Amino acid sequence: MKFLEAEFVKGFIRMANDGWEQGWHERNGGNLSYRVKEEEVQLVRENFAPGEWQEIGTTVKGLAGEYFLVTGSGKYFRNVAIAPEESICMIELDESGEKYRIVWGLINGGRPTSELPSHLMNLEVVKKKSDGRYRVVYHAHTTNIIALTFVLPLSDEVFTRELWEMATECPVVFPDGIGVIPWMVPGGKEIAVATSEKMKQYDVAVWAHHGMFATGEDFDLTFGLMHTVEKAAEILVKMLSMRSDKLQTITPDNFRDLAKDFGVTLPERFLQEK
Ligand code: 13P
Ligand code: ZN
Repeated sequence: MKFLEAEFVKGFIRMANDGWEQGWHERNGGNLSYRVKEEEVQLVRENFAPGEWQEIGTTVKGLAGEYFLVTGSGKYFRNVAIAPEESICMIELDESGEKYRIVWGLINGGRPTSELPSHLMNLEVVKKKSDGRYRVVYHAHTTNIIALTFVLPLSDEVFTRELWEMATECPVVFPDGIGVIPWMVPGGKEIAVATSEKMKQYDVAVWAHHGMFATGEDFDLTFGLMHTVEKAAEILVKMLSMRSDKLQTITPDNFRDLAKDFGVTLPERFLQEK
């Protein structure tokens, strides 16, 4: 099968374009990765032209030998749908989980996203916590979440509770809450380790003054999660722009009632009286 005709490739490209249309990907901002299923690898294997092995910059033994679809470093989400073979690539990991090689894409040169250590360390952690179900990691420069990192305390409890209060669906969509990481230099192992620590517990991690990481089973769930968190952030920015306090809101007991009816568990540490 031609590479670009495979459904998982089409889904990846559509998600990248959806993110571009949301305005989350100025210039080369943001990156996307997908852990490819074994049967999907077989579907497109005839297109592979393996390059040289390169260092990942971290070790991901739990992903050894697996294949990933990832956006290229410095490539624009805007161009993914227009010129996918120039903007994205498929990589294979070696058996040590320390090296990768490009097997398809980036035809005009380049390398996978500079956030490859974060993507792979997150994918390793979420694969483990979901018994293999989670396959997508998405990083976007979501405007309203970034704005909030200048005015809210950078704590998991504050971000989770404030965002939950902004839309009734939020605690159902991200019942585990969200993690917040203070400003760090992007692109390396240190921020990858910090993010993957948060991903053990949450499906969303905020990078202060930078953006967000979201993870999930498939493209729809992961995009939907990013979209829901960013929408709640937009409501909070609007609310804070009108006045600094609330006349009324969703209360801790309201959340407990919601949890009961919707069959989700909401950690009590996010429901403390303020
Ligand atoms: P890349 O172009 O290397 O993917 O970097 C974009 C980005 O958002 C870095 O955090
Ligand atoms: Zn970024």
